[in-house]
Amino acid sequence: MESNLKFESQKLATWYFTVAAILFGAQLLMGLIAAAQFLYPSFLFEIFDFSVARMVHINALVVWMLYAMIGSVYWLLPEETGIETVGIKIAKLGFFVLTAAITVVVLVYIIVQIGPATESSIWLIHEGREYIEAPRWADIGIVVVVLIFVANLFLTAMKGRQTGIVTVLMADVLALAGLYLAGMFFTDNISIDQYWWWWVIHLWVEATWEVFVGCLLSYGLIKIIGARREVVEMWLWIEVSMLFGSGILGMGHHYFWIGTPEYWWEIGALFSALEPVPLIAMFVHVIYDWGKETGLKEAESKASGEGYHSMNNSPAFTWFVMNAFGNFLGAGVWGFFHTLPQVNIYTHGTQFTSAHGHLAFFGAYATILIGMFYMAIQGKNNISILKATFDSKMAVFLICFGVMGMTVALTIAGYGQVLVERAQMGATWEGFFVSQDMMWFVQGIGWRLAMGIVTFVGFIYLIKDLLTTSKNSIHIK
Ligand code: HEM
Ligand code: HEM
Ligand SMILES: [Fe+2]
Repeated sequence: MESNLKFESQKLATWYFTVAAILFGAQLLMGLIAAAQFLYPSFLFEIFDFSVARMVHINALVVWMLYAMIGSVYWLLPEETGIETVGIKIAKLGFFVLTAAITVVVLVYIIVQIGPATESSIWLIHEGREYIEAPRWADIGIVVVVLIFVANLFLTAMKGRQTGIVTVLMADVLALAGLYLAGMFFTDNISIDQYWWWWVIHLWVEATWEVFVGCLLSYGLIKIIGARREVVEMWLWIEVSMLFGSGILGMGHHYFWIGTPEYWWEIGALFSALEPVPLIAMFVHVIYDWGKETGLKEAESKASGEGYHSMNNSPAFTWFVMNAFGNFLGAGVWGFFHTLPQVNIYTHGTQFTSAHGHLAFFGAYATILIGMFYMAIQGKNNISILKATFDSKMAVFLICFGVMGMTVALTIAGYGQVLVERAQMGATWEGFFVSQDMMWFVQGIGWRLAMGIVTFVGFIYLIKDLLTTSKNSIHIK
């Protein structure tokens, strides 16, 4: 379709969003394969092993989210600063280089899968670090493209209007990109390796990505319901200070049992237990602003006798609200469940962790990034009021119900696992296998697969809606 976008930066954003959506689909398919292998261990055995399906599942997850995050910055930057992104040509080149590299990496994961235990595998196949396994050649390429991206952001922000959102984004993106370096070094000591690996994983999802979400929430509230910038940006500053305050030392909850000093028990317990506080603040922020701003405007429009639309993009707003709920539930509640060392000694590395991992990544990030897909669809098709459709509602319902269902199923499986494998059988090798055959565990794993299929059907509705949505909406001009 012809694009109506006047900024090249926003065109580039739609490319990033498109690749993100494709990788999201690939992620879900890999999840389904891995989930089926839990129940039918011989499924694709030695052709496409569980370890490979799982690896592609979670690496695709991280990459599609990073793509959607980069896309979001290129999307909102010209609107916030009032100017075209500086260095947009090289930014586009960066997109092609990155996408070509990612394609090669994924093909190697799928076709080559594993290599010899030498350094050549780290350079050419993958690094064996959960979530961020890109081989070293690709790591270096990623760093170069991300430097271009950071330069685009900084140069544009310095030349154009500087809003609070852009200022926070500048600091945040610098930290987010810089942390990636902590996951690139090689050491043959697994404790040291994990120590630094958590700097990337934890400080991404519980500090820098959360701040990023704060920026998107602020932007979305201003654009969709016309919230006032002063109010929204004030919240943003408060959230940023709280997120960094608890998130940085909260990292201690990963340092309980990996050979790091014991003082991390107290530090991790205290600061990670505080982490839900900013998530509650974000939740209140969205709901409060929504109620207040729409109430005010409704009164105004009644007084003037004009027709009133409380929001100009219902699907995007629905996903933004899902984000407020999901972030609080997945990260805040499910995170808090197992964050004290007294609890974590039993739950560590069980399906309980997986339940939290799913709901947190989904609730905190997938939701709001899908919301940004809808912002881009609205802008690209020049739609003044984007309404919800049958497909968009089915997508929200099936995806959210599916992921929530998977989370509940995994929580039940994890509960049984903790009880039998850890509490009764004392974390022994035998305990592991006994708990894997337990009825509660197997049924939970079965429901996870069923709910995964529900999620995937929702994803198909989502794509269908994104591709056809402009038809049901009110256009300007
Ligand atoms: C959106 C934010 C969050 C995301 C995306 C997230 C995601 C994850 C994931 C994927 C894991 C598993 C890591 C692995 O593979 O070993 C994990 C572990 C963990 N998370 Fe979170 N998390 C978030 C926020 C939180 C919060 C706020 C808390 C605490 C209140 C928390 C507490 C924990 C703990 C204690 C573990 C370790 C579990 C274990 O020992 O097995 N998380 N998180
Ligand atoms: C079709 C739906 C999905 C299915 C069937 C599925 C299945 C799976 C399976 C089987 C694993 C391996 C678990 C293990 O090693 O015990 C896994 C891991 C994971 N998946 Fe999914 N998944 C799906 C969707 C998602 C979504 C939507 C997200 C987040 C947005 C997600 C995030 C993760 C994460 C973070 C892990 C690693 C968890 C950990 O190690 O603690 N998955 N998934
Ligand atoms: Fe963490």
